Amino acid sequence: MTAACSSSSEPVLVLGGGLMGLAIAHQLARKGIAVTVLSRRRSEAAGFVAAGMLAPHAEGLSGPLLQLGQLSLGRVPSWVAQIEADSGLPCGLRSTGIVVPFRSDKERDLYPTAAFGEPLDREQLEQELPGLAPEWSAGLLFSQDGQIDNRRQLMRALESACVDRGVQFQEGVEVQELLQNHGQLKGVRTRDLEGTLSTLSCSQAMLCSGAWSAQLLPELQVFPVKGQMLSLQTPRGALRRVIFGPGTYFVPREDGLVVVGATSERNAGFNEGLTPQGQTTLQQGIAALLPEAINWPPMERWWGFRPCTPDEGPLLGESPIAGLWLACGHHRNGVLMAGATAELIADLASGSAPRKDLAALLPSFRWDRWRSEP
Ligand code: GLY
Repeated sequence: MTAACSSSSEPVLVLGGGLMGLAIAHQLARKGIAVTVLSRRRSEAAGFVAAGMLAPHAEGLSGPLLQLGQLSLGRVPSWVAQIEADSGLPCGLRSTGIVVPFRSDKERDLYPTAAFGEPLDREQLEQELPGLAPEWSAGLLFSQDGQIDNRRQLMRALESACVDRGVQFQEGVEVQELLQNHGQLKGVRTRDLEGTLSTLSCSQAMLCSGAWSAQLLPELQVFPVKGQMLSLQTPRGALRRVIFGPGTYFVPREDGLVVVGATSERNAGFNEGLTPQGQTTLQQGIAALLPEAINWPPMERWWGFRPCTPDEGPLLGESPIAGLWLACGHHRNGVLMAGATAELIADLASGSAPRKDLAALLPSFRWDRWRSEP
């Protein structure tokens, strides 16, 4: 069993300055715990890449992942309110609802989360999504799902909230090694941009290194799934709802930009950059869902790496090293689950009892859940 962090002067280290790391640092700091975030390269964080959908139902999750997604969705408004209060900045939370279109009623009714949505026929679908291609004859409206402007608002607000709460940051610092003694975390070895190696001692750290988490702890089954995305400038009022089609989604922001995603490339490894094939896939997805959008001007294109696991669920809680807590592997649902994850991990690490609903899910998200029974 891992010891909880105390109020000693040695800070808790958060390994990773992405959304998960910031969210946990913020919650720890709110509890009065000294925190230092070690961040290698801010721009690679999935929090700056993701579309920001809050979509446990539209994503068609099931089992414990759906439960975690639903609990997370319920906590988003209060989590965002904390960040906005601490930072004084808006996070861009929007209750746009999400519509999932289908090619038949049967396909719609078989969707894993169909029971949570409002079924739509073609006429209703057209009202919700004007311009949708004719082949989509049925839909599900998940009005409880939504979105947040992670790229331009949430990340900035969270960074600011962390600073306001006294979180320390070391940017351009790569954690190269976890140091332990008889299974207890003792520190980390780091390398900065000039190549200087340092050792930071700590007895508590949070592993929030996203798709790179297994590079620090090879026992973790976390691997990258590359996604390429783009944004389009829409005519005013063109899209009210998020559209979540198979392989392609449109997320309309308040200012008329729509974020379009995303490829899901399991064999790309950590190969950076846009590819012609990826961009073609996105263009084909746009044409298949919303043909008129092919003519909307593209504004920006980007890519990133989702942290995936064999069952696409996160790794949460204890790790093989006492004192090292896991919060990684959220795959397609990091933005949705960041608030609930931060609450859970900050409670565990500080020795507070986590709320029962989240605590009950911990066994489903243990790092070693794929090990066969003896
Ligand atoms: N959550 C959407 C994606 O990962 O592309």
